[in-house]
Amino acid sequence: MKHLGEKYVDTYRMRTALCKTCHGKEGYSVRPLTPNLAGQNPVYIVDQFSAFADGRRKNYMMSNLAANFTQEDMIKIAIYYSHEPAFSDGKADPLLVEEGRKLYSNYCTECHGKNANGPKGYARLAGQRADYIVKALKDFKQPGGDRSSSIMYGRAQLLRTEEHMQAVAAYLSQL
Ligand code: HEC
Ligand code: HEC
Repeated sequence: MKHLGEKYVDTYRMRTALCKTCHGKEGYSVRPLTPNLAGQNPVYIVDQFSAFADGRRKNYMMSNLAANFTQEDMIKIAIYYSHEPAFSDGKADPLLVEEGRKLYSNYCTECHGKNANGPKGYARLAGQRADYIVKALKDFKQPGGDRSSSIMYGRAQLLRTEEHMQAVAAYLSQL
């Protein structure tokens, strides 16, 4: 973050004061079903922020919030979070992790990357909370739900059972 200047960073740390209630200090989520933002791909953050603002993605709190930020604010906040190192507590059931690793490498690496670190504009999944990943997959599976993406609709169907979703989430959360 140094190249952006300390003053700049401080301004955007301040603008994220409200976010902390749910996304935690420096983007390490403190609430169930709430994603970590630390280390997330900034292109993906800006895209999702816009999706909340224009109604492509729905969540009561986030939709209202996003509508009150300018594009420039969103970009700066995204850069701030993306520079915080991603965090993972490294804990998950080893059997589930192994099953999840296979499913992930069969179906998901093409876009989210071999290490799930979110290349190009795709979401980083490594180190994300397992409960949130499962929720996101269920949202994608539901046509006309809170989150519609033609790409993820198809991909999420490949994880047929609750156990498949839990396994992929366990694998990703401990990366
Ligand atoms: C009251 C709790 C709450 C507050 C405050 C809050 N968020 Fe969120 N945020 C959530 C929840 C819950 C989700 C997941 C919504 C869903 O399931 O689709 C979310 C999702 C997001 C996402 C999408 C991340 C992803 O991985 O797809 C971004 C980006 C985000 N929030 C940014 C922010 C920023 C920036 C702030 C502060 C300006 C903020 N949020 C404040 C609860 C909150
Ligand atoms: C062809 C590209 C592609 C493949 C393959 C793919 N995804 Fe995605 N994924 C996306 C896109 C695009 C989004 C953003 C969707 C949106 O706009 O909400 C996304 C979003 C997600 C999210 C939400 C992340 C967040 O922070 O909210 C999760 C979880 C996810 N994908 C899991 C998976 C899993 C698990 C697989 C394998 C079964 C997979 N994806 C395969 C393109 C892909």
